[in-house]
Amino acid sequence: MQKIVLIGYMGSGKTTIGKLLSEKARIPFYDLDEIIEKKSQKTISELFLEIGEIKFRKLEHETLRDFLSKQDDFILSLGGGTPCYANNHLFLQQEDVASFYLKASVKELSGRLMQEKKHRPLIAKLDDAEFEEFIAKHLFDRSYFYHKAKNVLSVDGKEPSEIANEIIGKLA
Ligand code: S3P
Repeated sequence: MQKIVLIGYMGSGKTTIGKLLSEKARIPFYDLDEIIEKKSQKTISELFLEIGEIKFRKLEHETLRDFLSKQDDFILSLGGGTPCYANNHLFLQQEDVASFYLKASVKELSGRLMQEKKHRPLIAKLDDAEFEEFIAKHLFDRSYFYHKAKNVLSVDGKEPSEIANEIIGKLA
């Protein structure tokens, strides 16, 4: 039985690596954003628009808590902001959870996110000039929570399979 939680900023590769890891380690993969979307029958962007970020964070916390109380063999990727609200970072430290922070640099994240920002409500409206600075500041604010993960993996310039193998190497 394995409980693996992947965290990191938007664009750090949580979903890609989670899916790959799932194939390699034969452990089912779940994505918290997807669970929230299924449960609410709305996209994350619609939820931000319709109920606002504060209520979204509450829904995110409840969904995470319910998931962890019911499942006992999983790889779960969290949303970029999940560890930073409602004491969710405490789940990362739970004794039976292996948590991994996929740590990417501001340069790497800005490059990846610039092309696909429109699906992400927190950065969709930023223009190119302010983009990198916003991410640098946001990442700095969140860094404290991200470092609550039991394992920190640097992902810059690495292939997803290399990162998945690193995670497998760290599992008991
Ligand atoms: C968010 C990240 C998103 C999603 C929502 C808020 C954040 O998840 O939960 O848009 O606060 O960083 P991804 O990191 O999977 O894009």
